[in-house]
Amino acid sequence: MIDSGRLTRRTAELSRIAGQGTAVTRLGLSSDEQSARDLVGAWLGARGAAVRRDAAANLFARFQGNGPAILVGSHLDSVPEGGRFDGALGVLCAVEAVEALLDAGTRLRHPIEVVAWADEEGARFGVGLFGSAAAFGRLPSGVSERRDRDGVTIADALRALGEAGDPGRARRDPKDLGAYLELHIEQGPRLESAGVALAVVSGIVGIYHARVTIRGRADHAGATVMTARADALAAAAEVVLAVERIARARPDSVGTVGEIAVRPGAKNVVPGECVFSLDLRAARDHDGLVDEVLAAVARVVSARGVDASIDELARVPATSLDPKIRAVLKRATSSVGVDAPELVSGAGHDAQNPALSGVPTGMIFVRSTGGSHTPREFASPDDAALGAQALANALRELAT
Ligand code: GLV
Ligand code: MN
Ligand code: MN
Repeated sequence: MIDSGRLTRRTAELSRIAGQGTAVTRLGLSSDEQSARDLVGAWLGARGAAVRRDAAANLFARFQGNGPAILVGSHLDSVPEGGRFDGALGVLCAVEAVEALLDAGTRLRHPIEVVAWADEEGARFGVGLFGSAAAFGRLPSGVSERRDRDGVTIADALRALGEAGDPGRARRDPKDLGAYLELHIEQGPRLESAGVALAVVSGIVGIYHARVTIRGRADHAGATVMTARADALAAAAEVVLAVERIARARPDSVGTVGEIAVRPGAKNVVPGECVFSLDLRAARDHDGLVDEVLAAVARVVSARGVDASIDELARVPATSLDPKIRAVLKRATSSVGVDAPELVSGAGHDAQNPALSGVPTGMIFVRSTGGSHTPREFASPDDAALGAQALANALRELAT
């Protein structure tokens, strides 16, 4: 049985690492993320797990058995001013599920490995799902040389943690894994509206991330007539609205420009350069969405006589999760008294990388309120305990 008090205490303890009140800023590949790994590693080491960190700073805690391992976990990093549950709850519930099995004297036939993937959010270096992409050989090329705002590269950040600076070395053989399970807060309102605590995830949307640089010409804001300008921000503004229009017109699609910077950035200078992010997601025909937005960028740029370059950070295809594992999770959620609906995830998850590498993969969603990627995000102790118990029941079915 899950120890709900232990799960709640540990949720609070973890949230104090780089946390203030209900806000958490625990960026990927930082010393704060490492402190969180140390805490989780200590809990599982005390239960006899072999604990290690790989070349991409992923934490694995392995309980021995024979044959392919069952991997279970999520991530410990957060967005800036994020909450206590995105990622963390999946690791906490994986820990609690394993503790519950051990408390009950369960004998494992197959190994169970609890994982905490590094830098899932990509908030610092722009590359999300970093640790899981490294483990499954799906990192974009040249990724180690990407820099944060202070000029620190990913390789530097890994070296500061004591690694060699080559995340490619984290690659492991997917054939050594019998399954991957991840529990996560839903991050949307569907379970709350339905009055249901848990869901089984059927698939995850395709995600495209890029950084667009529009180069116009900086000029005097008073002395340059309107017809003689190459205003990079005005061009970017047209693209922002095109993203909104295109995503609205397509089924199951969303598009967001969440970051924007203008250079040189003064009120009396026509913007010479504008850099902004693109986040484009769709459950179906994701490539079609991306193509339509990139065509809009090309049209705006040519009509306004500016230049654009596009730095693609990630293109993860829409991912459907394994039908057999979904059935295991459906039984596990039923066994805790929840008639769990199947939901498509609009958020990206580390589960995409094992799933796309052929590892039978499944996810449980836990009802959450207050949105996500904000200090308001919340999963109740009762719902978290139900999720952990369902996860434990699924692990028992797969590993014993
Ligand atoms: C991760 O939280 C994402 O979907 O951006
Ligand atoms: Mn997130
Ligand atoms: Mn997450």
